Amino acid sequence: MRKRRPFTPFPTTGYYGPEYFCDREEESQTLISNVRSGQSTTLAAIRRLGKTALIRHVQQILKPDWIPLYVDILPTEKTDDLLKYLATAIIQTIPEKSRQGGKIWNLIKSLRPTISYDAYSGMPNLSFSLRPEESRQPVQELLALMEQGDKPVLLAIDEFQQILSYPESNVDAWLRKSVQELKNVVFIFSGSQQHLMNDLFTNPSRPFFRSTLFLQLDKIPTATYAGFISKQFQENGRKIPDESVNEMLEWTDVHTYYVQLLCNRVYANIPGNVQKDAWKAEAAKLLKEQEYVFFGYREVLTQPQWHLLKSVALEGKVYAPTSKDFIARHQLGSPATVLRSIDSLLRKELLYKHFDKQGKTYYGVYDILFRRWIETI
Ligand SMILES: Nc1ncnc2c1ncn2[C@@H]1O[C@H](COP(=O)(O)OP(=O)(O)OP(=O)(O)O)[C@@H](O)[C@H]1O
Ligand SMILES: [Mg+2]
Repeated sequence: MRKRRPFTPFPTTGYYGPEYFCDREEESQTLISNVRSGQSTTLAAIRRLGKTALIRHVQQILKPDWIPLYVDILPTEKTDDLLKYLATAIIQTIPEKSRQGGKIWNLIKSLRPTISYDAYSGMPNLSFSLRPEESRQPVQELLALMEQGDKPVLLAIDEFQQILSYPESNVDAWLRKSVQELKNVVFIFSGSQQHLMNDLFTNPSRPFFRSTLFLQLDKIPTATYAGFISKQFQENGRKIPDESVNEMLEWTDVHTYYVQLLCNRVYANIPGNVQKDAWKAEAAKLLKEQEYVFFGYREVLTQPQWHLLKSVALEGKVYAPTSKDFIARHQLGSPATVLRSIDSLLRKELLYKHFDKQGKTYYGVYDILFRRWIETI
């Protein structure tokens, strides 16, 4: 992994090392101890909360004793793609001249890959032209070969729920079988589509049922994030009032990506020390930039869906969307209409469904910028 430095102390994409990473100490410890005891983990959270960054962070810490492999399979649509992404991650990480490298590279070469080089990173990318039924076996063989190295492998498969959309049936069945046979390879299966991840790992009729430990990622505690933000400013010789930091965290609902985004803008666009309330202009600019996207939502949604989305945005958290109260307050029609809209908005990832600490279900709007924008119109 090539190390780059971000332009600001608040990067909004990628992982740049512990100096730019806030907290997650408990979660990191849990993951590390699972890995060290040979147990695979399922890591689930709503979008943009920091799953991928946490995986990167833990892999960095474990790097001296483990071979960290990371594969994001979100773009994959079939087993063939899975092979391509896995093989690419392997050749980018495991040198041909290492103990297990020789055999793995030979296997990959025997599949006659086409190699191209990423224009930005210079990393090789592989692709294969195999028939659909031919790609399963090489995936299994690659997994088996990883078993034979000097160091154990920590293989993180991000957006794992994607395998459910492959046209080939039973992908999880044969994958589970391969995974089960490995002793020197530990997995982190991560995903953001919570209902699919739950189905994969907690449904008794599924092959992966209870095969892993479960780690649900939540928001970073507000006070911890506030301390981190102040420190990032201070270390660069700048100040921001505590009051502003707290308001910014409230405005972004402590949702990691949005916190980073707002801090990034404030840091980059306001020179010197940040005055009280100065952040608000940056927040307003962010909303303005997104306005086209938000009007776009309205175009693609039905009236009842749009109204429901707006109503949830206005309330923040909604526990009982089909209750008389909520429906009357926002004039949403019948409970059946609301249920249909919820379904569709969940599928479009405009709403999310989550459990609070007491185990009660509530709904919220995914995009905090959209929520704040609704409040302004
Ligand atoms: N603990 C953290 N401290 C600082 N920044 C973080 C932290 N975790 C994540 N981020 C930042 O927030 C952004 C979103 O995080 P990340 O991509 O890891 O979320 P995700 O849950 O994997 O999202 P998605 O569901 O979209 O894949 C990242 O680009 C990263 O820069
Ligand atoms: Mg991610």
